Amino acid sequence: MGKVSSEFTFQRTGRTVRNRTVLAALTNKQSHEDGSLSNDERHWLTLRSKGGFGIVTTAAANVTETGRGWDGELGVWSDLHLPGLTQLAEELTKHGALSLVQLFHGGMRAPLRLTGVQPVSASENTEPGMDGVVSKELSSAEIESIIDDFSQAAKRCEQAGFCGVELHGAHSYLISQFLGPVTNRRTDEWGGTLESRATFLKRIIEAVRSSTSEEFIVGVRLSPTIRDLGISLEESLQVAEWCSQWGLDFLHISCWDIYQNKQSIEGREQTQTKWFSERLAGRIPIITTGKIWTNEDVGFAMKEGADFVGVGLAGIAHPDWPMQLMNSTDPSKPPFSIDHLQRSGLSPVFIEYMMRWKGFVADE
Ligand SMILES: Cc1cc2nc3c(=O)[nH]c(=O)nc-3n(C[C@H](O)[C@H](O)[C@H](O)COP(=O)(O)O)c2cc1C
Repeated sequence: MGKVSSEFTFQRTGRTVRNRTVLAALTNKQSHEDGSLSNDERHWLTLRSKGGFGIVTTAAANVTETGRGWDGELGVWSDLHLPGLTQLAEELTKHGALSLVQLFHGGMRAPLRLTGVQPVSASENTEPGMDGVVSKELSSAEIESIIDDFSQAAKRCEQAGFCGVELHGAHSYLISQFLGPVTNRRTDEWGGTLESRATFLKRIIEAVRSSTSEEFIVGVRLSPTIRDLGISLEESLQVAEWCSQWGLDFLHISCWDIYQNKQSIEGREQTQTKWFSERLAGRIPIITTGKIWTNEDVGFAMKEGADFVGVGLAGIAHPDWPMQLMNSTDPSKPPFSIDHLQRSGLSPVFIEYMMRWKGFVADE
């Protein structure tokens, strides 16, 4: 099976992970209304640790109550969440996975109808699905306060026993709203040049690093491109390079499809994974995600330079996806029966949520 089954040691922290498979962050609607962990959510994630994943990442977890993007998602904004987080970290560790919490703030994508407050962003923004509500441009003091929320949340995750955090800098949420020139039209130190637009991310990394120990892993997830926000591959490559200089432990690129999105810069066309692996040249490890399912997909991702392979849907369908790979079996593909998904540790509310993914749940 080669590289995917081999251990990896994160240089700065000295932590070792048992193989190169990653359960990517997956919102699943199973948390209690106050953001505390439910038994269903603990069960679904623990099964993935038992199933052999090297890294298990929680769903996008809210660093503030007002930055929530959906209901039924994990909270890390309060010590009230500590008991559940502690139990989850214990279970994930007991079965051998390296545990990460994905730290999230929705920014302009935190709906007023859910949070009861006007969403915030780098500038005044709106988009379809926000009921016409325009986000408020954050003041510098408010930005500092959100940076502190990220830092306190990370500290709480370490206190709960997690190995690290992944900052959600992808998919048009708050960190990417700062990175993108379309959503960040500020003229102060938080906007303008790419360096200034990346200051929010840099300051979060610094704050998280200073509130956690040297053993605590800190990574970031980025989207290589987001057209609506003006985020280009060239700029994302530069941000990735800075991340490697800012002392991050890994970069996770969210490609949606590792085969597509071939992109050309100055006439050279190659996959996004290849662009990032070439640019980072091994300085920090790369997780790549998007339509990875079979042994062949894993081989392709690694050939393009990924150090880790992340999965969403394959991990929802197969708690033991890594074990199946390592036995050289190709895990079965959708659609999946409700019975199969129940046996895979999904509660009714998560199964219902998955019906939104066309063709994933079999019509019965
Ligand atoms: C149900 C579902 C929930 C998701 N939730 C998150 C999330 O909380 N954070 C995140 O960064 N990405 C999220 N994603 C994206 C996945 O992490 C992953 O990048 C995407 O599914 C593509 O990988 P795949 O083709 O292996 O499924 C979600 C995807 C799905 C299907």
